[in-house]
Amino acid sequence: MSQPDTISVASPADFHVHLRQGPLAEVVTKHVRQGGFSLAYVMPNLKPPITNTEQALLYRAQLQAIDPAVEYLMTLYLSPELTPAEIRRAARAGIVGVKSYPRGVTTNSEGGIESYEAYYPVFAAMEEEGMVLNLHGEVPSSAETNTCVLNAEPAFLPHLRKLHAQFPRLRIVLEHATTRAAVECVKSLGDTVACTITAHHLALTVDDWAGQSWHFCKPVAKYPDDRAALWEVVKEGHPRFFLGSDSAPHPAETKATASPTQPCAAGVYTSPILLPLVAHLLESFGALDKLEGFVSTHGRAFYGRPVAENDRRVVLKRASGKAVGIEGYGSGPTHVVPFWAGKAIGWEIVE
Ligand code: NCD
Ligand code: DOR
Ligand code: ZN
Ligand code: ZN
Repeated sequence: MSQPDTISVASPADFHVHLRQGPLAEVVTKHVRQGGFSLAYVMPNLKPPITNTEQALLYRAQLQAIDPAVEYLMTLYLSPELTPAEIRRAARAGIVGVKSYPRGVTTNSEGGIESYEAYYPVFAAMEEEGMVLNLHGEVPSSAETNTCVLNAEPAFLPHLRKLHAQFPRLRIVLEHATTRAAVECVKSLGDTVACTITAHHLALTVDDWAGQSWHFCKPVAKYPDDRAALWEVVKEGHPRFFLGSDSAPHPAETKATASPTQPCAAGVYTSPILLPLVAHLLESFGALDKLEGFVSTHGRAFYGRPVAENDRRVVLKRASGKAVGIEGYGSGPTHVVPFWAGKAIGWEIVE
């Protein structure tokens, strides 16, 4: 079957992205549009985290000042500060979701959750208000339970099942799934449970990050068969699975550290190249015809943000062999280098 040389998609939406704050936000926020996206579902793990409506609205205003052409959907960080009353305030202010991070698992998650039951009144209010619960689906590592980064996601799935059983009308997104077990679990649950998949987890397996700190992120990429399960569900065009890039920029000096006392930062930065990269990856496993569903319509449908009549379509064309620059963007503490640096993607956005 011959493959197209151009492809167009309706208003791409990235349903999980880290836009940071301060000078780093100035550099990376513009890359949402550069990467072909017009909607950003913004993660709240700043320092300090975004835990209330006021902070989220202030953060949204800061992002809008950097690039007003992107629609920013805001989230709150699940913490003991969050009450049912605050949920109602947030919902009225247009805040869309709440992200839950298990304690200690990932970047700036020291304030994350230990037990969900304490939050049941919050989840009940979210269910009533139509807010979305975004789960970082890993349990903390523990020698007692033989849990580490390789099985932290499967070990989390019983919590997802239990939450869905308890709150069947609450929309829940299992973020950045990396395992066959997670894909099967989400498929088996009802229409209120969806799942984001990153671009980098469609590319990487354990071999690619073991010894390559630039490919290190949480959750870590897993086995080839897990990656195959992500490919299969995208290829199937399953409507409850869609892109959330988890694009997570860190200064180059914290990614490339070789210090014996300082581990490297977790996160893969894909925003500047996102749509061409996703097209490349989907084509690599025979799913290019599923691009629009994966990057636009599935997520928009789940979140109730359908493509509007006058939304811009983004057109991709096949590109020459030009490689993604290894020099990256910014400098010093804002120097960030994207995923795929030094390699050609084979697609580019038609301006
Ligand atoms: C929760 C618990 O044990 O209360 N676990 C967790 O936070 N890791 C989840 C649950 O309610 O099942
Ligand atoms: O690798 C990751 N980086 N995973 C996360 O969940 C957070 C992110 C970050 O903020 O850097
Ligand atoms: Zn996460
Ligand atoms: Zn994330």
